[in-house]
Amino acid sequence: MPEGAEAWLVVGHEESRAALADPRLSKEWASAGAHLPVKAIASGRSLLSSDPPDHTRLRALLTREFTPRRVAALAPRVQRMTDALLDTMLASSDRRADLVDALSFPLPLGVICELLGVPGLDREPFRRWSNAAVSGLTAEEREPATASMRAYLTRLIADKRESGGDDLLSALIRTSDEDGDRLSGHELLGMAWILLVAGHETTVNLISNGVLALLTHPGQLAALRADFDGLLDRTVEEVLRYEGPVETPTYRFTTEPFDIGGTTLPGGGELVLIALADANRDPRRFDDPARFDIHRDPRGHLAFGHGIHYCLGAPLARLEARIVLRSLLERCPDLALDTAPDRLDWRTGMLIRGPERLPVRW
Ligand code: HEM
Repeated sequence: MPEGAEAWLVVGHEESRAALADPRLSKEWASAGAHLPVKAIASGRSLLSSDPPDHTRLRALLTREFTPRRVAALAPRVQRMTDALLDTMLASSDRRADLVDALSFPLPLGVICELLGVPGLDREPFRRWSNAAVSGLTAEEREPATASMRAYLTRLIADKRESGGDDLLSALIRTSDEDGDRLSGHELLGMAWILLVAGHETTVNLISNGVLALLTHPGQLAALRADFDGLLDRTVEEVLRYEGPVETPTYRFTTEPFDIGGTTLPGGGELVLIALADANRDPRRFDDPARFDIHRDPRGHLAFGHGIHYCLGAPLARLEARIVLRSLLERCPDLALDTAPDRLDWRTGMLIRGPERLPVRW
């Protein structure tokens, strides 16, 4: 690990699926062995750093507000934002752009800001802090970005408390269940962090990795262009399987010894990473797994995790990817990669997979 700690890496589809659902692996930082020089990347307390019963309570509070209705209601807005970003991108006189800058980054961030009700988010500093959080830096190297992000989100929550509204962040501030349960300040910070960072860093790379996979597989691209209605949903699932945005999700720690895939992991807070990127290319689960094939049935991929921490944003990420891929390809019939694929720089770190920049022309 960047800090020098050693971690166990779980590989294989069956093994990863089992590990994701195993209650003997804890996501609480309190479970981390004292010998591990690792630190949380997120600020505040969130779903991704808690176990039941706290996790159950936090997840129920978020699920109640982050409803399918809220997500479905965003569809026309996602389409309008996509259209506007494409208008700007296509106005470029040399018919070239970095797709990450022009589309993959601003769209998910714009959508999550809309959902949370923070239209005035300072995008560029936010992008720097957020990128630092999920990069391969050590906790010490990340600290200035982490502190700036924490201060920014704390201010944002305080402002929201004053102004209120119909958005998700205001709803989370107001939220209380039948027992009068509320989110503490620390938990609210965790929620804002997880929604803003997990909600955009991932989707950015679903869009970029999807466009890249299609542009480097012209036969698949032609098939999709010929039948968007029939193949778009499957294409998005196949991108999630073939090159999902999350390579290894956030840390887990052993609470007792247990066997996995014929290996015994010791208890005592050992660090465990689950290689989703490997699980999704396990030949025991997917035929010819290194082949990108939008006709296959990729169901059962683990790109959104599995078990109690299964991604709450999956419907939103899928909605965005479908709208963006279709609109981009329809408006750019001759879209092409503007560099050799092997010259692309990839994001650093083990959490996120995606190109830093994606030069395209049309
Ligand atoms: C393609 C895009 C996305 C991918 C690949 C993705 C992936 C994941 C994965 C793998 C997990 C489980 C982590 C673990 O078990 O340790 C997760 C959890 C989560 N994701 Fe996503 N995510 C995406 C988009 C989103 C979006 C758009 C949102 C919110 C707007 C979101 C919110 C969350 C939350 C709140 C959790 C924590 C759930 C829990 O711990 O109970 N994600 N995501």
